[in-house]
Amino acid sequence: MARIHDTLETATSGATERDESGGQTAFDRHLNGVPLEHGQHEGAGPSPAVLLSDLEDGLHTVNQQPNMKLVVISNRVAPFDPDKPQTGGLAAGLEPVVERSGALWVGSSDTRGDGIDQPLPLVKTGAGDVARLDLPEADYHGYYRGFSNSTLWPALHSLLQRMSGPEGDYDSYRNVNAFIARAAFDVRDRDAFWVHDYHLLPLAAELHRLGIDRPTGFFLHTPWPAPDMIERVPHHRELMKLMLEYDLLGFQTNRDLNNFLACLQVYFALQSKDGIVTTERGQTHLQKFPIGIDPKQFAAHLAADLSPAEEETLSSLLQKFESAKFAIGVDRLDYTKGIDKRVEALGHLLAASPSSISLLQIAPSSRADIDEYQKYKEDVENAISHVNAKHGMDERRPIHYTNDSFSQAALARLYRAAHVGLVTPLRDGMNLVAKEYVAAQDPKDPGVLVLSKFAGAAEDFGEDEALLIDPNNPEEIADAISKATNMPLEERVKRWRSMMDKIESYTIHDWSADYLRELDRSRINVPADQFHHLGLGWTNEAQMPLYQNYAAALTAYNEIDPAAGALKEAAYIDVKSAFEALAVPLKHTQDRIWDFAAPPASQDAASTPNLQSSTRSTMEDTARRTVPSP
Ligand code: G6P
Repeated sequence: MARIHDTLETATSGATERDESGGQTAFDRHLNGVPLEHGQHEGAGPSPAVLLSDLEDGLHTVNQQPNMKLVVISNRVAPFDPDKPQTGGLAAGLEPVVERSGALWVGSSDTRGDGIDQPLPLVKTGAGDVARLDLPEADYHGYYRGFSNSTLWPALHSLLQRMSGPEGDYDSYRNVNAFIARAAFDVRDRDAFWVHDYHLLPLAAELHRLGIDRPTGFFLHTPWPAPDMIERVPHHRELMKLMLEYDLLGFQTNRDLNNFLACLQVYFALQSKDGIVTTERGQTHLQKFPIGIDPKQFAAHLAADLSPAEEETLSSLLQKFESAKFAIGVDRLDYTKGIDKRVEALGHLLAASPSSISLLQIAPSSRADIDEYQKYKEDVENAISHVNAKHGMDERRPIHYTNDSFSQAALARLYRAAHVGLVTPLRDGMNLVAKEYVAAQDPKDPGVLVLSKFAGAAEDFGEDEALLIDPNNPEEIADAISKATNMPLEERVKRWRSMMDKIESYTIHDWSADYLRELDRSRINVPADQFHHLGLGWTNEAQMPLYQNYAAALTAYNEIDPAAGALKEAAYIDVKSAFEALAVPLKHTQDRIWDFAAPPASQDAASTPNLQSSTRSTMEDTARRTVPSP
C-alpha cells in the first residue's frame, strides 16, 4: 500500500519536474478541477473546448500553440521552395505550420532504400528540420501505390468501384509504418507526435510498441466514410483498433467524425462520451478541426513577382480568354475530383447558351503509375476533346486544359482573374482550393464559388455563400455556373464577404494551434512505468479525478493509527472503492473492445491477436496486488 502511495507521489512530482513540457499544463489544469468539454460545433472556428481554455487562460489563445518540441509525420513532405508547386492539400497545409513552429517533419523521400534502419537524416529547414526517409524498396509499392492509394484512398472517398490491390499490400503497409516508427525512435524524447493521413493509420501502435509513449495525435485529411464502405477495406477492424492507439483523432468535418463514431459503434459496440472513447489502451479524444489557409500569405502571393517565364505563361494563358468570362478548376488529376462531370456540365451549358463561358482546367498529374489514374486521365481528356470539338469555333476552344503545375503566386492571379471557381469533387476532406479561390478575389468585384456539397468546405460555406451543387449531376453544375456568371455585383460581394470572414477567423495557424492544444491536454506525461504496477500502464487527464480520489483515500488510510481498528477498517473500504472506481470502467470497456466475436473467415480474425485473456488476468492480478489489506 505504501508503495502505491509512493508511486502516486512520485508520479505527480515527476510531472511537476517536467515543467516545460506540454503535459504539465494539462495536469495542472486538471488538478485545479477545471471541467473539460468536448463536443461538435458547426462551421469554421474553434471548438467549444478551445473557447473554454481561452477563458481559463484569461486571454485569447487562438493561434498560440503550446510550446512543444513537435514531431510531424506524414508520407508527403512539402518541397519548401516557393517556386515549386505543392502536391496536394496536406503539404500545402503543413508547410506554414512547420515553418512557424520549428517542428521536425518526417516523411518520405523520392528515393527508395534497402530497408536497413538509418539515423534520421535531419536537414535544417526554416525554423525546423525535415527528415526525408528512403522508404524500403521491397515494400514501397505495396504501401503507397497499393494499400494506401488503391485500397484506402478510394474506400475513404466512398468510391468502391475504384478499389483494387492484392492481399500482400497490407503487409507492406504495416512494414513501412513499422520502418517509419523505428526511424522516429531517434527523436523519442520530443514532446509530442502529430501524424497525418491515411498512409499512417497504424503508426501510433508502432511507436508504442517501441516504448515511445509521448502524446500522439492523428489528423485525417480525407473523408472518413460510413460503416458499409469501410467494411470493404481488408483488416478494417484491426485498422480502427490501431487508430484507437492515438490520444487524439482529428477529422475535417462533423460528417467524418460521425461516420467514424458510427463505425466504432457498429464494429466494436463502442460509444464515445463527451468526445472521448475509452479502451483498454487508454482514452482517445475525437474532434473535428476544419483545416484552413493563411489568407495573409495568400495576399502576399497575389502581390508577389512571378519569374519571367511564369509571367509569360500566365499572360499567354489569360490572352486565350480575351475579355470573355471564364471559370477555373485546379485539381490533382484524381478521380475523386469530379473533373469529367464538370466538363460535361460545361457541354450542357454551351449547348444552351453558346460561347457564354470558357473553362481553364489545371490538372497536374498524380499517382500516374496507378491504373485507375491512367484510366481517369483518358476519360477526362476524351470528355474535353468532345466538348471542344462540339462547341469550339475556328481556333477558339472553350476548354483550356493543362497538366502543368503553377506556383501559388501564379495560381493566386489566375483565381482572381476567373469569374467562377469550380470546386466539384465527388468527395473531399476539405479542399483548400475552395478557400484559396475566395481569398484571391477582388473585394470590390469578387467571383463566385461553385462548390460540391460533398467537399468538407461545404460544412464551412453554406448555401448563402457558395453555390452548392451535387457533383454527380452535370445539369445542376451547369445551372450553377450560369447563375454565377449572371449574379449581380451586390450579391457576389455579400456572399464573398461572408466566406472571407470565415477564412480570416479560422486560419491554418488557428487550426494547428487548436489541434496541438487539444493534444497537449489529452494526455499527461507520466511515464508508464510509474503507474505500471497499478496494472493500467497508462493514464490521461480525464482519469485524474479517479487517481486523485484514490490517492486521497490512501493518504487518509495511512494517517490513521493502526490501533484505531474500526476507523482504519472504514478507511480501507474507502480505499477499496476508490480503487474499484478507477479500475472497473476500464475493465468494462476492455471487455467490450477485445471480446467482440470475430466473424467467420474474416482476415481480421486471423491477424488480430487474442488479447482478451492476458489483459483480463492483468487486471485481476492488479486488483490482487494493489488493494491493501487492513
Ligand atoms: C491528398 C492526400 C495527401 C497527399 C496528397 C497528394 O491531399 O490527402 O496525403 O499527400 O493528396 O497525393 P500524393 O500521393 O501525391 O502525396
